[in-house]
Amino acid sequence: MGDIMNDVKVVFEPYGKRVKASVGELVFSIAEKAGVAIRSECGGRGVCGKCKVIILDQNAISKLSDIEMNHLTSSEIISGYRLACQTRVLKNVVVAVPPESIMQPPKLMILGFERDVKLSPVVRKLHLLLPEPTLSDIRPDFERLLESAQERFKDFGGLDIDYDVLKMLPEILRRSHWDITLVMWDRRIIGVEPGDTSDRIFGLALDIGTSKIVGHLVDLKSGRTIAVASIENPQAVYGEDIITRITHASKGDANLKELQRLAVDGINKVLHEVCENSGVDPFNVYEVMIVGNTAMHHFFFGIQPKYVAQSPYVPALRKAVSVKAKDLGVDAYPCGIVTSLPIVAGFVGADAVADVIATGMHELSENSILIDIGTNTEVFVGNRDYLLCCSCASGPAFEGAHIKHGMRAVTGAIEKVHIDNNFDVKYETIGGVKPLGVCGSAVIDVIAEMFKHGIIDANGRINSQIESPRIRASNEGLEFVIAWKDETATGREITVTQKDIREFQLAKAAIYSACSILMKKRGLSEEKIDFLFIAGAFGNYINPENAKVIGLIPDVTSEKIRFVGNTAVAGAKMALISKEMRNAAEQLVEKIRYHELAADPNFNQEFINALNIPHRFIGRFPSIRKHLKSFR
Ligand code: FES
Repeated sequence: MGDIMNDVKVVFEPYGKRVKASVGELVFSIAEKAGVAIRSECGGRGVCGKCKVIILDQNAISKLSDIEMNHLTSSEIISGYRLACQTRVLKNVVVAVPPESIMQPPKLMILGFERDVKLSPVVRKLHLLLPEPTLSDIRPDFERLLESAQERFKDFGGLDIDYDVLKMLPEILRRSHWDITLVMWDRRIIGVEPGDTSDRIFGLALDIGTSKIVGHLVDLKSGRTIAVASIENPQAVYGEDIITRITHASKGDANLKELQRLAVDGINKVLHEVCENSGVDPFNVYEVMIVGNTAMHHFFFGIQPKYVAQSPYVPALRKAVSVKAKDLGVDAYPCGIVTSLPIVAGFVGADAVADVIATGMHELSENSILIDIGTNTEVFVGNRDYLLCCSCASGPAFEGAHIKHGMRAVTGAIEKVHIDNNFDVKYETIGGVKPLGVCGSAVIDVIAEMFKHGIIDANGRINSQIESPRIRASNEGLEFVIAWKDETATGREITVTQKDIREFQLAKAAIYSACSILMKKRGLSEEKIDFLFIAGAFGNYINPENAKVIGLIPDVTSEKIRFVGNTAVAGAKMALISKEMRNAAEQLVEKIRYHELAADPNFNQEFINALNIPHRFIGRFPSIRKHLKSFR
C-alpha cells in the first residue's frame, strides 16, 4: 500500500513513454530507467546544464534550485525549462524532452588506425580426445591431459592449471567422455570445455576513457573486430575530470570501491552489447585487454589512485597487470583473464602506450609527433631510438564541455564552419540535420575563420567595431552567431562566445606548449618532423590548416599530418591478438622518457606565448605568417 501511495506516473514526451517513479526521484534517473536518453556532459552533477527538459506543471515538481537558476535564462524559466538532474517529481507529471536535450547517436571515433600484425593471441584452444583410464593406464587426469596435449604440440609441456578448473577437471573429463577442448592463456589452462569448441574463441579490447568506454569484440581466430560498442563512462557522476574522481576515491575505501564498481558496470555493459550484437556468448570471451589513463587503470583494478595526483605523481606500478575476470566482476569467461598494457607515469597511462603501438612510431627511423587529444592530452616525440613524452591538462573544451553551445560530435552537431568575406556562415552538421550545437572541430574552424577575417585579433578578442548582425553583445559579453534561430533544431541561435574562445585558447596553448617543449628537448624543429599523428575521439574531423591557424599544432606541412582516430582501442586490439605486440609494449615503456611539464622551468612562458593566435612569436608559424596579409 505504502508503495502505491509513494508512486507517481511520469510521461516522457515526445515519446509517449509512461513510467512509474517514486515521489522525490530525480527526473534524470527516471528517464534513465525508462530508456529515455537525455543529454548530459557531467553525468547528472548540475555542471553542464545540458539536461534541459520542459515541465509545465511546476506544482508537480521540486522548487527551482540555485544550480538551475545559473544554467537557465529567465525566458527559459518562464517557459517551464528545468534541469532533469536537479528536478524531483512530487506528483504525476508530463516531462517534455526538447530536441536539444535528446541524446543523439554518437559519431564517435571508436575505430582507430590499425597496423597489420601477425596473429598470435595469448589465448589458444586445443581440441583433444583423451584415452580413458584403465587398470593398465592409471595416469592421473591432469597428467593424462598434459601428455595428450604434448603429443600434439611439443611446447605444451609444463602447462599450469587454474585452481578453479582443476577442481572441476575429473567431472568434466568423464561427463564429456574424454572429448574436450583446452583453453589456454599463455602457459596456464584456464578452461576445459566438453566437446570441440575450438571455433569459439573471442577477446575484448577496451579503452576506458575518462568520458567514455569503447570496446571491440575480436574473433581471436581471425583477428577481426566483429562488433564495436561505446558508452559514457558511468564514473562521470563523480566528476567530469580525473582529479575530481581521484579526490573522491582518496576519501575512503568505500568511495574507491564505488568507482571501481562503476567502471566494471560500464565494461560489462559494453561486453553485453557487443556480444548481443554479434550473437557471441560472453562466456566465450576469454581475455579482456584494457587500456586507459593511469587513474582509470587504478580505479578499475581497485588500486588507491591518490598518489597519482600528488607530486611527484607516482603510479602504483608500471608493468602489465593480469587478473581473473571473476575476481574483478567482469562478466566474461569467469577464469578468463583481464589484462592491462603497462603504463608510463602518473599521467601517461596504458592508453598512451597503446597509441604508440598502434601508430608504430616507436619502430620508425623517421621522427614523429603523436598528440592524443582528450581532457588530458598526451604527447610523444621521437623515433625508434627513444621517445620523449608528457601529458598536459587540456580540459574538456574539445569535447564540447564548458562551451556555451558545445556538444559532442553526435548527430546535429555543427562539425565544419566557413565564414566568407561578408561574414556569412556556411556550416555542415553531422547527419545533415538542423543544428543543435557545435562540436570541437567546428569551434576550431570558427576561431580560425574569425581570425582570418579579423573578427578576432591575435589575443582572441572579438572586434566590436565590425558591423555585422552576427557580432553582438550578450549577457556574457560579445559573441558571434553561427546559426540563426530559424535554422536550428532548438529554435535558438547557436553562437560562439568570447568566453568559449578563451576556453579554447587555454586548451590549445597547453597542447602546443607540450609539443614545443618536447621537440626542443629532442632537438627537433618542425622541418625535421616526418609525421604528426593526431589521435583522439574527434581527430578525424579537424581541419588541419585551421588547427595550425589557431596554433593548436606545430606548423608542419599538412601532408605529414595523419588523423589516426581512437588509437588507444586499436593498440589494445593489437596487443590482444599479438603476443609480440604485448611484449613490445613492455619493452617500450622501458625506453620512453617521461618529461614532467609541471617541473619544466620553461612551461609557463611557453604556455603564455602560445595563448596568442596562432602564437606570440608568429615566426613559429611560417605557413600562417605567409597568409596573414590576405587574412584581413
Ligand atoms: S546533466 Fe544536468 S547539468 Fe549536467
